[in-house]
Amino acid sequence: MKHKIIQLPKVIDERGNLSFIESANHIPFKIARVYWIYDVPGGEIRGSHAFKDQEEFIIALSGSFDVVLHDGQEEHKISLNRSYYGVFVPKMTWRRLENFSTNSLCLVISSTDYNEDDYIWEFDWFINEKQK
Ligand code: TYD
Repeated sequence: MKHKIIQLPKVIDERGNLSFIESANHIPFKIARVYWIYDVPGGEIRGSHAFKDQEEFIIALSGSFDVVLHDGQEEHKISLNRSYYGVFVPKMTWRRLENFSTNSLCLVISSTDYNEDDYIWEFDWFINEKQK
């Protein structure tokens, strides 16, 4: 599977807009866990690893940041800056989060519980696995 931008429903209302996610209808996996990254100091980078099994959907709930993905062949940079769309990241994708704006809020919806054994920390090992 390839990474993809997924647009979410947007209920426009003069009292304030509303968006939502249903795992059965909007993202290609069942939600197991939700976490968020916030208070990121300027210039910091999060991630820089891949997951063997975990799939995720990443949204900029507030502010902006870049999601840099490597699928084993090429790198793609996706800038997120709205709360009504996000990027689906398939398993076995190297990913890095960078260029966070002040007060940005990064929501990550994950297909698995936290499992440190699922992380791949070595880029060369990752590329090797992708070439098998
Ligand atoms: P990590 O996934 O390495 O963060 P990033 O890839 O954004 O740099 O997680 C950082 C720390 O937080 C690590 O010690 C594990 C812990 N953690 C949890 O306990 N539960 C979670 O769901 C996540 C995502 C991380």
